Amino acid sequence: MISIEALRNMEIPAQTIVITGANSGIGFEAAKFLAAKGAHVIMGVRSLVRGDEALALIEEEVEKPHVSVLELDLSSLKSIEAFVATVKKTVDSVDVLINNAGIMAVKEGKTQDGFERQLGINHLGHFALTAQLFDHLSLKARIVNVSSQAHLMGSFDFDNLQYENGGYKPFKAYAQSKLANITFTHALNDKLKDKSIQAITVHPGVAKTGLFGRKDGVFAFRLFSPLMGLFAQPASLGALPTIAAAIHPSVTANEFLGPKEKGHKGYLTQNDRINPKALDKKTQAALWQASETLTGVTFPL
Ligand SMILES: NC(=O)c1ccc[n+]([C@@H]2O[C@H](COP(=O)([O-])OP(=O)(O)OC[C@H]3O[C@@H](n4cnc5c(N)ncnc54)[C@H](OP(=O)(O)O)[C@@H]3O)[C@@H](O)[C@H]2O)c1
Repeated sequence: MISIEALRNMEIPAQTIVITGANSGIGFEAAKFLAAKGAHVIMGVRSLVRGDEALALIEEEVEKPHVSVLELDLSSLKSIEAFVATVKKTVDSVDVLINNAGIMAVKEGKTQDGFERQLGINHLGHFALTAQLFDHLSLKARIVNVSSQAHLMGSFDFDNLQYENGGYKPFKAYAQSKLANITFTHALNDKLKDKSIQAITVHPGVAKTGLFGRKDGVFAFRLFSPLMGLFAQPASLGALPTIAAAIHPSVTANEFLGPKEKGHKGYLTQNDRINPKALDKKTQAALWQASETLTGVTFPL
């Protein structure tokens, strides 16, 4: 078990950490926490204006943070490619890649490349990003995929992965995309067996963030968003499993980290809460194949 206290008191070696969707919610809190530990944090953000505003907030709390704000729109393969090229020019290597950005239960729509939006942004964009950044990862790098307990409700229909034949439901598509996050972790670790790079999955628990109040989200979530403060944890607590996965020495490949219990006394591996579909080798292979075919990006493995 990783205690929050230990995490807060931990010292970390100099390292470079890339976080997607780092301008708000869990990504922002993780960026602030890791910058305060002295890491060079690269914030991948959809809007540079919002990214700079987030950096200004970090600067209010952290003295001289080493933070770079770079544009990254995961709904565009072109933007992902440009982001990777800039990261490669900016730093010699990346020690931790946190695939955090996400949207939840939005109305049906497509990314700039024509992918169903939730699968496209939450999974395919991160798949393409990880593949292209892979040869710039350091020898003992970690890849942290932010999934959700919602993945337990997910399933794949590889003949209708993007609801081409209908059947789109906002939450169903979110659950599928979060199942894709954790399936990707396990498929990647299998391919990484002889390498010291590790992929880990986390779920934040329920945290009060912008995820629930999006204008394009389903009505029930928008309605429920202002009430979240009554029972949801703050984003700073929701970020702790992500932070633990990024820096705690005890973390190993394939772990699924999330809040242990209400009150957040600590964090525990929750491998007993993984949807068995994510562990199925045929499902992993099918998702990998579909992700490569759709994005046109392959891993140098
Ligand atoms: N909050 C929870 O209770 C909860 C529970 C389970 C899992 N999660 C997961 O936690 C992760 C972070 O979500 P959050 O709760 O912190 O929500 P959030 O505050 O809405 O943060 C999501 C971040 O993703 C970014 N993003 C959205 N679309 C993007 C795109 N096309 N390209 C690049 N970035 C994009 C957003 O940028 P903009 O500000 O520009 O939109 C924002 O910075 C998500 O993967 C979510 O599924 C959250």
